[in-house]
Amino acid sequence: MTKTPNHQKVVLIGDGAVGSSYAFAMAQQGLAEEFVIVDVIKERTEGDALDLEDVQAFTAPKNIYSGDYSDCSDADLVVITAGAPQKPGETRLQLVNKNLKIIQSIVKPIVDSGFDGIFVVAANPVDVLTYAVWKFSGFDKSRVIGSGTSLDSARLRVALAKKLNVDPRDVNANIMGEHGDSEFAAYSTATAGGVSVVQLAKEAGVSFDDLLQIEDETRHKAYEIINRKGATYYGVATCLMRISRAILRDENAILPVGAALDGEYGLNDIFIGTPAVINGSGLAKVIEVKLDDREKDLMAKSAATLRQVTADGIA
Ligand code: LAC
Repeated sequence: MTKTPNHQKVVLIGDGAVGSSYAFAMAQQGLAEEFVIVDVIKERTEGDALDLEDVQAFTAPKNIYSGDYSDCSDADLVVITAGAPQKPGETRLQLVNKNLKIIQSIVKPIVDSGFDGIFVVAANPVDVLTYAVWKFSGFDKSRVIGSGTSLDSARLRVALAKKLNVDPRDVNANIMGEHGDSEFAAYSTATAGGVSVVQLAKEAGVSFDDLLQIEDETRHKAYEIINRKGATYYGVATCLMRISRAILRDENAILPVGAALDGEYGLNDIFIGTPAVINGSGLAKVIEVKLDDREKDLMAKSAATLRQVTADGIA
């Protein structure tokens, strides 16, 4: 299938639960005219490609096939989900050594293929591994985006919406910092219907302590899911689809992602969760939100946690 300006190509690296769910979400949304699935287990990618073909009886026809790293050469977007998932009780940061090796083995053949599009990274610990993809690829930081705190922010919005009895899509609230145990809710910037979430909560009899409880439940939701079903995948796959759509449709969407900072929040040389403008060129702009003292302190602590692991992991 020859590529034309309106023929977009996405390559998925990693066809596990997250990757397969992402492929399904992309097929359902009719995003990308060409979608390639790459994994070390070739038979699984062939099976998923055949399975996803059947979706096309209900959505726009797409060319979905099992491929390899050479298919990245003319791709617009490469999404990396390959990596070991958390086991019950395991933190994301504890995966760093195992998954750093996998990332290193992936990025080189992708870059060697001549790929010059945009990377989206979802393997954990995602902020550290996004930094690693940036380092190993040599790409401009605007073309390396992590799923960051997109999933955590989705969890926060759903939890707040339940408390406030509103549609989660109308809650503009972000989790920032590490996609992990040091993340925090930027409540001072959270609104719904143009009104502060803190104010709306107060009017609904929900105290700030209750909001801190929601922040903590959000921080630990992945463990609750993993303890019950062994892994999480639908939520993060939908976030990856949303980020992919912002890129493929050149939306200038403001999304909470894992972004490279260049002085924002007083931080440099780090990828961390913050709202950013996402479009066809990748990460167009970090949105530096005004944090209150509690949040500034938590952002600094989260960055220090990530910096420690990054320094240890990526010399
Ligand atoms: C989670 C995984 C994707 O938070 O880190 O569910």
